[in-house]
Amino acid sequence: MAGRLQGKVAIITGAARGQGAAAARRFVAEGALVLLCDVDDDHGEYVTSQLGDAAWYRHLDVADEQAWATTVRDVEQAFGGLDVLVNNAGVMSFTPLVDTSLAEYERVVRINQVGTFLGMRECVPLMKRRGGGSIVNLTTVEGLAGMPWLTAYAASKFAIRGMTKVAAAELGMHGIRVNSVNPGAIDPATAATALGAPVDLGMMGDRVPLGQDAQAEEVANLLLFLASDESSYCTGGEFVAEVGGQQPGPAQPTPQRPYAVPPAPQQPQPMPQPPQGPYYGQQQYLQEQYVQDAPWAAEGVRRAY
Ligand SMILES: NC(=O)c1ccc[n+]([C@@H]2O[C@H](COP(=O)([O-])OP(=O)(O)OC[C@H]3O[C@@H](n4cnc5c(N)ncnc54)[C@H](O)[C@@H]3O)[C@@H](O)[C@H]2O)c1
Repeated sequence: MAGRLQGKVAIITGAARGQGAAAARRFVAEGALVLLCDVDDDHGEYVTSQLGDAAWYRHLDVADEQAWATTVRDVEQAFGGLDVLVNNAGVMSFTPLVDTSLAEYERVVRINQVGTFLGMRECVPLMKRRGGGSIVNLTTVEGLAGMPWLTAYAASKFAIRGMTKVAAAELGMHGIRVNSVNPGAIDPATAATALGAPVDLGMMGDRVPLGQDAQAEEVANLLLFLASDESSYCTGGEFVAEVGGQQPGPAQPTPQRPYAVPPAPQQPQPMPQPPQGPYYGQQQYLQEQYVQDAPWAAEGVRRAY
């Protein structure tokens, strides 16, 4: 079945790679006109160039209030309105609570939480003028249950779930539906493609009943459903895209496991430094700081998954 978004105009943030890029590909394939937004212009323009005449790229820092205003103004001028907003852009920060700097906390909240707020606030007037629309906000299973080392990330995602429900309650009368999607771990191959380096988070996939992480394309199918009219009676919902959570009992060690988890250190260990630069991708952080350089920290992930 094709054409499930035929003629609809969609904005997807954080679309230069990973989940956002997968959603853009799916939306275009289903007939949508898609504006891919990101701060990673090289990847964003490359991904967009692969999608033909129904896709456009625009530099948009979701934390920038003025940039949102001009983007939405231009979308209305160019397309005449907006039907779908996917607030997908997000960053992650792996740091123990007591070592999380205020600057790092605010950086994560600014992009994930404030970015989502601004996106909704600026896009809703267009949708109202259109007579309806669908907003999909990316959160995470860590935004449902929390996880060690994710204070800023989990806080921002819990907040997104909250504002999703408030917006759904306010906007239903305008035909605008607002839902959140909470994926479990998504196959990092999507990020590895962009990074040009392997990312092995197999330990997370080992802990869930299906024994593997999600593919971004699988989560994109859920985003498609929520963006389309097929989900016409869904609003304020929290859609979980994972495979049943943690399995009871210890994970079964397999020869494929990337490494053995060492015993807890007796002495305090040097901390991985927070990422440098304003827009450090979460998978890149995992690859460089968490999984490889701080394998002792994997115990936290083992307990959480
Ligand atoms: N990968 C996972 O396992 C996973 C699991 C659950 C939820 N999520 C959520 O899915 C979303 C996408 O994750 P992903 O794995 O594709 O991440 P990713 O790091 O591969 O991609 C995120 C994109 O957001 C962009 N971005 C960062 N800051 C931005 C800003 N200020 N303005 C605009 N764009 C910005 C990045 O440049 C990048 O292209 C995020 O909200 C994330 O929290 C991911």
